[in-house]
Amino acid sequence: MIKNDLFLRALKGETVERPPVWMMRQAGRYLPEFQEIKKKYDFFTRCQTPELASEITVQPIRRYGMDAAILFSDILVIPQAMNIDVEMKPNFGPYLPNPVRTQKDVDNVIVPDVNVALDYVYQAIKATKEKLNDEIPLIGFAGSPWTILCYCVQGQGSKNFDKAKEFCFTNPIAAHQLLQKITDTTIAYLKAKVAAGVNAVQVFDSWGGMLSPVDYQEFSWQYIQQIIDALKEHAPVIAFGKGCWFALDTMAKSGAAALGVDWTCSARNARYLTGGNITLQGNFDPTRLFSPPAEIKKMVTKMINEFGKDKYIVNLGHGILPNIGLDNAKAFIDAVKEYKAPS
Ligand code: CP3
Repeated sequence: MIKNDLFLRALKGETVERPPVWMMRQAGRYLPEFQEIKKKYDFFTRCQTPELASEITVQPIRRYGMDAAILFSDILVIPQAMNIDVEMKPNFGPYLPNPVRTQKDVDNVIVPDVNVALDYVYQAIKATKEKLNDEIPLIGFAGSPWTILCYCVQGQGSKNFDKAKEFCFTNPIAAHQLLQKITDTTIAYLKAKVAAGVNAVQVFDSWGGMLSPVDYQEFSWQYIQQIIDALKEHAPVIAFGKGCWFALDTMAKSGAAALGVDWTCSARNARYLTGGNITLQGNFDPTRLFSPPAEIKKMVTKMINEFGKDKYIVNLGHGILPNIGLDNAKAFIDAVKEYKAPS
């Protein structure tokens, strides 16, 4: 039994004293104790060493006491396991020196035995569960197939992922084969993560909002739906699509336990589009954490009142930025813990 089960109860839609809170990308980035580890070990060493990954996962919990932890890892461990080279260049981000651009490239992508290729992730989960000592739940995650395709084809981050979209629109057959291979790998991977001990999984569709509503259904959503169908009996699934408010109505009927919302969609609109019955997660503008702590607290209280305290998980609308002040992050978490529903 997990002692603080606010997060799991909110995922079930149960009534809670206050909503749970965690922050996307809370593990790493802005914490000085993370920067110390970062100085000594490169990115994938941190991901692949269970002692380091578990330590980084619990660092923000020790400091701020969030209601859920998210495993330190990356969405790009999936293409790596599929035989695609992935580097993490300091001050640049992901770099894939041999991007997937042709049918032949797609044929060379493997669907690996995730139990072997990603064993280090399950070891990290086990080490983290020991450190968390059943105090709070642990979230596992994966990128959406579309978001993974974006990196595999583009080869790096991008403002518009033009090469990824060009590939899909000029060679849809190969694109769908690649998306299906990523989906099959991701389903097996997330199931193994649940078996190793994560209590919920989140699918990050960070670049879903690059697609038009019609293309979103074809190139992104249908694959996320496959993941939800395969996982929902095993663990609650949170689907987060950045810039994907236009698909919230479809998402609400998917069997996901909760939907992530970014800050460009108001609470009222998100509730309206999803029919008012599904748990929502979000949606504080990550740059609003630059505001003074007192102002952050007021804005968070207002946000909770707008979403309502039930069927709601307080979070940012996207990942926390590396240059956010420690007191500002604290104000965000504290405001939720101090929340009292208006009488
Ligand atoms: O949420 C957490 O704290 C868990 C850890 C986590 C990381 N990446 C660690 C990381 C999670 C959930 C991710 C997911 C991820 N990775 C996404 C989806 C979420 C999102 O923000 O949209 C994406 C698109 C990636 C790909 C990726 N990894 C990028 C674009 C970068 C470079 C830029 C950056 O800092 O985000 C990474 C590297 C990365 N992944 C870092 C961390 C802490 C920073 C680099 C480092 O520590 O050396």
